[in-house]
Amino acid sequence: MKRIGILTSGGDAPGMNAAIRAVVRKAIYHGIEVYGIYNGYNGLINGKIEKLEVGSVGDIIHRGGTMLHSARCEEFKTREGQQKGIEQLKKHQIEALVVIGGDGSYQGAKALTMQGFPCVGVPGTIDNDIPGTDFTIGFDTALNTVLDAIDKIRDTASSHERTFIIEVMGRDAGDIALWSGLAGGAETILIPEENYDMNEIADRLRSGNDRGKKHSIIIVAEGVKSGNEFAKELKEATNYDTRVSVLGHIQRGGSPTASDRVLASRLGAKAVELLIEGKGGRAVGIQNNQLVDYDIVEILGTPHKVNIDMYQLSKELSI
Ligand code: F6P
Repeated sequence: MKRIGILTSGGDAPGMNAAIRAVVRKAIYHGIEVYGIYNGYNGLINGKIEKLEVGSVGDIIHRGGTMLHSARCEEFKTREGQQKGIEQLKKHQIEALVVIGGDGSYQGAKALTMQGFPCVGVPGTIDNDIPGTDFTIGFDTALNTVLDAIDKIRDTASSHERTFIIEVMGRDAGDIALWSGLAGGAETILIPEENYDMNEIADRLRSGNDRGKKHSIIIVAEGVKSGNEFAKELKEATNYDTRVSVLGHIQRGGSPTASDRVLASRLGAKAVELLIEGKGGRAVGIQNNQLVDYDIVEILGTPHKVNIDMYQLSKELSI
């Protein structure tokens, strides 16, 4: 292996830069050249490719976002788009590709792998919804951003004795909602993986009220419904007035936490190790604090599971 490529794709996540740095430096340390592909699969199709040196990744470990920029690319979902990408890789004599991103990015890596071009997937998404890893790069930072918002909202909720609904990201996965809700002491957490019962929620609010508790925090993952829609439903069921905060893309930014930087450094380096060993078509992850790797084609068929025990615990602790 003499030359590898690297790209970031899909929604950016804090810690992607630390992962890029790890890939570039680990590879160069082992005598491998690294080419950065800008703007995800879009840039791959259009040949936005440049050589990265040790200094290219200096001073980025603490920065959110991705220095390689990112995009969602419809064209790469087609066989034609994938072929254009492979031509660009061949033109630049790139022998393998490290893809940092979430589910859509992994689909691209899987497609390339199935067409004979070796890729290694590194899980980078705030959603924490990639199978084969306990944590994805960016989740911890996003979680702490949401927690900071919950704590601040709790101050004003308590002063005004209000119920607040906080809408967080997570179209298909409830991890951000569940972990932040548990850490922030939310009264109710709605996640896409579990149905909710409005009567139960209403009862919980009323019983809190009866024992003198005048404010509540409800976390809604965007994949369930919008915070505003839920506020309307709650008003109809309970006549409670609420305030809604939609945290939005603030959750994707910011300096990565120590935990995300360490995770990104370990996973990025692991991806290069696999390529040095001649193993392409893999997805790296961390399980029980051990680095692991799986066949990227097989692992994508396995659904990510939210921690149902934690969900149950959140209910028991918010009586
Ligand atoms: O996949 C990460 C994520 O932030 C999701 O939580 C969210 O639903 C989506 O990306 C938003 O995507 P976009 O920035 O393209 O609107």
